[in-house]
Amino acid sequence: MTTTTTQTDPLGDLFDPRAYAQGAPYDVYARLRAEAPVSWHEEPAVLGWPAGPGFWAVTRYDDVQHVSRTPGTYSAWLGCTQLRDPAPEDLDFTRQMMLNMDPPVHNRLRKTVSKAFTPARIRHFTEMIRTRAKVLVDAVCERGECDFAQDIADELPLVTLAEIMGVPESDRHLLFMWANRVIGYQDEELGSTSTGAQPARPPVNPRSRAALQDMFDYAHQLAEFKRANPADDLITTLVHAEVDGRPLSDEEFELFFFLLSVAGNDTTRSAIPAGVLAFIQHPDQRRRLVEDPSRLPGAVEEVLRYCPPVVHFRRTATEDVELRGARINRGDKVVVFYPAANRDPEVFADPDRFDITRTPNNHVSFGFGPHICLGAGFARLQITHTLSEVLNRMPEMELAGAVERIQSNFILGIKRMPVRFQPTRR
Ligand code: HEM
Repeated sequence: MTTTTTQTDPLGDLFDPRAYAQGAPYDVYARLRAEAPVSWHEEPAVLGWPAGPGFWAVTRYDDVQHVSRTPGTYSAWLGCTQLRDPAPEDLDFTRQMMLNMDPPVHNRLRKTVSKAFTPARIRHFTEMIRTRAKVLVDAVCERGECDFAQDIADELPLVTLAEIMGVPESDRHLLFMWANRVIGYQDEELGSTSTGAQPARPPVNPRSRAALQDMFDYAHQLAEFKRANPADDLITTLVHAEVDGRPLSDEEFELFFFLLSVAGNDTTRSAIPAGVLAFIQHPDQRRRLVEDPSRLPGAVEEVLRYCPPVVHFRRTATEDVELRGARINRGDKVVVFYPAANRDPEVFADPDRFDITRTPNNHVSFGFGPHICLGAGFARLQITHTLSEVLNRMPEMELAGAVERIQSNFILGIKRMPVRFQPTRR
């Protein structure tokens, strides 16, 4: 590998979770896109985690798309898709998750589970999502103030996901706990809410089988229950689905349950308050949307482009390859940065402007290529109905305190966002 930037390089830090405490480092992305679009970064020991071998950061839109759609050269399976390497003893297990598969194995599993994400299935849950968003907003409307992150954004994805999956109401807090354990491990406070006792801190990798045994046991029991008591939900669809003429194996099912519990929760839970914050900070755009609600679909896409919840995913080079002049060696980690691609001036005019009329708006917040987000339809619905309720029912919203972000280099989350607004009655 050719070292072009390091931790001490003035181009800036993309790795330390603490660097994300104020949001994504858009100034660093802009410098990298212009000066070193594919750049080498060290992976030092931070927050008790050991140092890693380093990684290539890909920041331009075209390159992010290229890496994401070329699994033969940039594999999701070899080293899996997290920036940190899985422990050697967890590698085989982690590779069985759909997110970490390459074609053709990935295609087969994706085709099977896609049955639970068809437009018809999404339409089936639309009314439920609309009602849930209404109920959550109703609960705080007359108070004239709330913590938007905790009272609304933490709740909607959780109840939506539980309804879609068919997780009984009494067990929903478990989904929240597991997602916090996996995503919040870089954040002292969230990590410690994850177990209710000890934070999930190193040396236990939160994505290892050992750290998630309780989740896998639960998934197993739920599958058995749904086999005996079929219902109109995603878990029932999955336990009856077949890959190449056979049902999903226990391990495939349990890992997909894990993937959904994390992918379907923290992402949307981060996008919702970030979008509302963008409207607080851009009152002209809020007025525009209130005056013309037909702009809502465009506004949702701009929220996703302007404040994408997922920072990166990783691939591993299967061969020596050159990308934008960077000489990548076989086995190197290649990490695509979605927020950087979404502000690429080659693709988006005036990219730092929040503009709900932007068209076209082909952001990469849901990824690109074979692994493009399976839950995008559900995520869009939740953002749409929350924004619609907020604009109609919580007028004159403003910040009432400091916004506190999750300390993570993977998810751009908001954990506290005190707001006040005009109290309203329905
Ligand atoms: C705003 C919300 C969301 C964002 C920004 C988001 C983002 C992403 C991204 C970037 C990927 C691609 C990963 C890669 O290429 O390695 C992905 C994959 C995935 N997402 Fe989402 N996601 C969101 C919501 C959801 C929801 C609500 C669900 C489920 C209900 C979901 C389920 C999945 C699954 C299953 C995959 C793996 C697809 C595969 O490997 O083929 N996501 N998501």
